[in-house]
Amino acid sequence: MLKDLHHVMQGFIFDLDGVLVDTARFHYQAWKRLAAEMGFDFSERDNELLKGVSRMRSLEILLEIGKLTISDEEKTFLAEKKNHWYVELLNQIDASHLLPGTWEYLNMLKTAQKKVALGSASKNASFILQKLKIYHYFDVIIDGNLVSKAKPDPEVFVKAADGLDVPYQKCVVFEDSQAGIMAAKSAGMNVVAVGNRELLPGADWYVQDLSQIIE
Ligand code: BG6
Ligand code: MG
Repeated sequence: MLKDLHHVMQGFIFDLDGVLVDTARFHYQAWKRLAAEMGFDFSERDNELLKGVSRMRSLEILLEIGKLTISDEEKTFLAEKKNHWYVELLNQIDASHLLPGTWEYLNMLKTAQKKVALGSASKNASFILQKLKIYHYFDVIIDGNLVSKAKPDPEVFVKAADGLDVPYQKCVVFEDSQAGIMAAKSAGMNVVAVGNRELLPGADWYVQDLSQIIE
């Protein structure tokens, strides 16, 4: 069934970080630098909690780990600081940072004239897609600038499907986060998890990367 997906489905909605591109380590480096500046360590294990989560919510989780309480103004300042460091790291990315199968699968869908959307929490999504030279594959781009409710709320995927004009049950979402899987399922969509079943329960199919779907 997995390899038949692109015959059965009409709308293909991709998360960005961790599905199309390996940006998680840059997010991690920037958050770790911020934690160090505030005087505590931030482990790779704790970083898992931040996947799929908005920038501000990520900061709140980081502050909980460091057992710190700060004002909203300070939160805004720190979130901007982290983003500045993250964008500095992003400046070095190019097509070599695409995850295996990304380019081939997008190309295959484009050739088959399928409708393709991005559904990401990131406010840096358009910049990243341009750096990777895959911006033109997307008919619709819904990112952190266009949603008011973060995953696991289905808003980002509902807007993407509506933009594509495809019924939700004919959409498949590709996700590497638990929040994203829950968001897609609560919209009545099909989900391919990119990662391990044990860490990401609730998806319809599992792959290690998109190269496993290509015919
Ligand atoms: C998600 C990432 O895609 O985007 C999260 O998985 C990140 O780790 C979130 O916090 C927001 O990204 P940005 O680029 O707007 O800070
Ligand atoms: Mg992700």
